[in-house]
Order: sequence, then structure tokens, then C-alpha cells
Amino acid sequence: MHRFADRQSLQDALLERRHNGLRIALVPTMGNLHAGHLQLVKQARELADYTVATIFVNPLQFGPDEDLDAYPRTLDNDCQLLHSVQCDAVFHPTVAEVYGESPLSEQTIVHVPSISDGYCGTSRPGHFDGVATVVCKLFNLVMPDIAVFGLKDYQQFLVISQMVKDLCLPITLHGVEIVRENSGLAMSSRNGYLDESQKSQARVLYQTLIETRAQIESGNSNFNELEAKAIETISNKGLRPDYFAVCSAQTLKPACLSDRQLVILTAAFVGNSRLIDNIRFTV
Ligand code: PAJ
Repeated sequence: MHRFADRQSLQDALLERRHNGLRIALVPTMGNLHAGHLQLVKQARELADYTVATIFVNPLQFGPDEDLDAYPRTLDNDCQLLHSVQCDAVFHPTVAEVYGESPLSEQTIVHVPSISDGYCGTSRPGHFDGVATVVCKLFNLVMPDIAVFGLKDYQQFLVISQMVKDLCLPITLHGVEIVRENSGLAMSSRNGYLDESQKSQARVLYQTLIETRAQIESGNSNFNELEAKAIETISNKGLRPDYFAVCSAQTLKPACLSDRQLVILTAAFVGNSRLIDNIRFTV
């Protein structure tokens, strides 16, 4: 596996492969990789000839009180894991390599309206601007044919999809189903912040998503009541719910009776760690 830290050597290597007609896939990550990330790489390898994973803890998507400094950085182990799934290359730039020397506040920002609002966009102001901006930069640096993202960050996936559409970026996106622990807990780099009892508490998120989906599938369409009940269940387990919302899977607007494709989005704090999860289904 090739390792690149500067954009020039990455681009030289990619140019040669592109000239040889290889299809390039990009898997953007912030590192501290787990089986969820590796699933994206496996999917990318099936879709393309040369897969580039990026590892970059993007300061622009963290709020001032968030875990930027504490975010786990485990580059050597991550490279071993990427090598084990036959990833072709990893790009792990510094902040200066991605953003240059000027302050982040003077950066050009990509803002994707509407879909960035609400849910994680409300709780983490500016978060999706940071995500869209860095993903746009990574797209321009790598110029992939294909980019692979996880559906665990479902709002993020829709934000990036809209950016690709609105900016006419010639990239095909692929969403990969959420990879979970045996307990049902969605895998996340932030699960490493949890002790065993918190991990056990956190299982309530997926359990409540499944229970709510079952209620809707059996004909209960009182979404507000279902959301309120879910919030109570999650609180009773000792978590601090941020939101639990039944939405249209396309627009993320609150679900209405004519919607067929639904997503239930949730976020909650376990101690200081903020976890997200979702479930998508058709009624
Ligand atoms: P990160 O949280 O490292 O996630 C990188 C990719 O892995 C994202 O597409 C995310 O949805 C996917 N992923 C994480 N956990 C997953 C799981 N349990 N199952 C399936 N996919 C999973 O998301 C980001 O980084 C950043 O916002 C990024 C897009 C890299 C921009 O900085």
C-alpha cells in the first residue's frame, strides 16, 4: 500500500493510474478505523481499480467545545488495517497541506443549504459546512470516479449527495449499510470513549430504532407520540437524547402520511460522548 502525506506525490501517482484507464475510488475517513470503515474500503475495491483512503481529522467540522484535540489519532494501526483489506493507497495530509497557512476563518466554505439544517446541523452549528468543504477539497485533490460513504452518517450522506449534484461534480457516490457490534451498537470511533457499562447503555439507541420501526410498520402513524416515547425510553436508560425523529428519507423533513421511504434519525449523549444512529425503511 502506498502512503502519501503531500498532495503532489499523491496526484503524481494518481495521474499515472488515471492515464492507464484505472477507475479510482475514494474513501474519506478521520482515522481510528474500525470494521465500518473497512467495509467501505471493501466496497470501493469492488467498484474501482485503485482505492484511496484518506485519514484527516478535519478541524473545520469540529465546534469549539467538541473533541478535536481528544479525537483518537492512530495512524500506524490504521495503515495496517487498510493494508489488511488491500487498500491501494492512503493519503494522510497535515492541516496545512489541506488548508494552507491562512486561518480556517479565511477559508472558502462550501455550504449546502436546507439539508444541512436540523438534527446534527442544529446541535453542531457549522459542522456540515466543515464536512462539505473538506470533502469537496478531497474530491478535487483525488478526482475519484467513485466515492464511498457510510449510511451511519445519513444526514452527511445526503449533504454530500446534494453538493455533488449542485456543483455538477463528476463523481458517483455509494452508500454502505451501517456496520454494528454484535450488541447492535453502530460502530464508531467515538465508541472508544465508552466504558463497558456505557456501551451496554448505548444499545438502547438501536433497540429503540427497531421498536419504533416495528410500531410504524404495524400501522402506528402518530409519529410525534412515537418520538416522545422513544426519547423517554432513551432517557430512562441514562442517556441524554439530542433528537429522535421520524423523517422522509429523501428530504429529512418530518415524516407525513404520504411518505413511503422513511428514516428514523437519532443522536444522544452517553456521558460526554455523542453517538448517532439511524434506520431506513419503506412503508
Ligand atoms: P468518519 O467518522 O471517520 O467516517 C468515515 C466514513 O466511515 C463515513 O462515510 C462514515 O459514515 C463511515 N462509517 C463510520 N462508522 C460506520 C459504520 N459503523 N458503518 C458504516 N460506515 C461507517 O464521517 C467522517 O469521518 C467525516 O465527516 C469525513 C466524511 C471523513 C469528512 O471529514
